[in-house]
Amino acid sequence: MSADGKISTKDRRQVKISGSEDRRRVDALRADSDAIMVGVGTVLADDPSLRIKLEGLRRERLKAGKKENPLRVVADSRARTPPEAQVLGEDCLLAVSEIAPEDRVAALSNRAQVVVCGHDRVDLPKLLDLVFAMGVRRLMVEGGGSINWSLISSGLVDEVYVFIGPMVFGGKSAPTLVDGQGFGPNFVNLELISCQKMDGGILLRWRLPRPCPDG
Ligand SMILES: NC(=O)c1ccc[n+]([C@@H]2O[C@H](COP(=O)([O-])OP(=O)(O)OC[C@H]3O[C@@H](n4cnc5c(N)ncnc54)[C@H](OP(=O)(O)O)[C@@H]3O)[C@@H](O)[C@H]2O)c1
Repeated sequence: MSADGKISTKDRRQVKISGSEDRRRVDALRADSDAIMVGVGTVLADDPSLRIKLEGLRRERLKAGKKENPLRVVADSRARTPPEAQVLGEDCLLAVSEIAPEDRVAALSNRAQVVVCGHDRVDLPKLLDLVFAMGVRRLMVEGGGSINWSLISSGLVDEVYVFIGPMVFGGKSAPTLVDGQGFGPNFVNLELISCQKMDGGILLRWRLPRPCPDG
């Protein structure tokens, strides 16, 4: 995110915040994950491929008996992912809800494994149970602000890595790291694990508390 906490500009287009060192770090984190998830807002705004860029990292995964790339997961209640989106293809799981139009689901079924998970919105706890049953133990989420809010406010996140880049985007409507409706007085407190200077900015790693059994 930018120094003022935005993950994009007010135009909501993809912008380069990291430098090469941080991009390599993100690639390595992807390679260490079993799955990578985004919300459909990120697919529509950025059209990310969510695959590992460095060939060496892909080779290491193959040597370790894993697939070349982790599973790619998109939370897309209404099946709005464009059929030409880069994220689609082998090893892509598209989670839709019961209200997703049948024709769009049918069109996307050729390009991804589609699962219905939730009535009018993707039910994230259910989706995480489902990917757990598929063998996923480490899920990396690459935003955006709405899916980050849903996951954090549901107590489904263990750790947050934030690279803060040396720029200011401003703008009330620019997306932030965590959007959604926001917490009241019972906001989430984080524990700092590490901080490191990188690419003219800083990388922070935070741990989230385990949710109480009574919610
Ligand atoms: N700097 C970075 O590292 C970074 C990374 C990623 C994104 N971004 C930026 O973030 C912006 C996109 O953020 P965003 O908030 O619009 O999109 P998002 O969080 O990627 O996706 C949000 C969408 O996911 C769908 N969704 C399905 N189930 C959900 C659930 N349970 N909770 C929340 N959402 C659910 C919703 O659409 P439906 O209701 O239709 O399902 C929702 O509108 C873009 O500007 C992008 O450039 C920046």
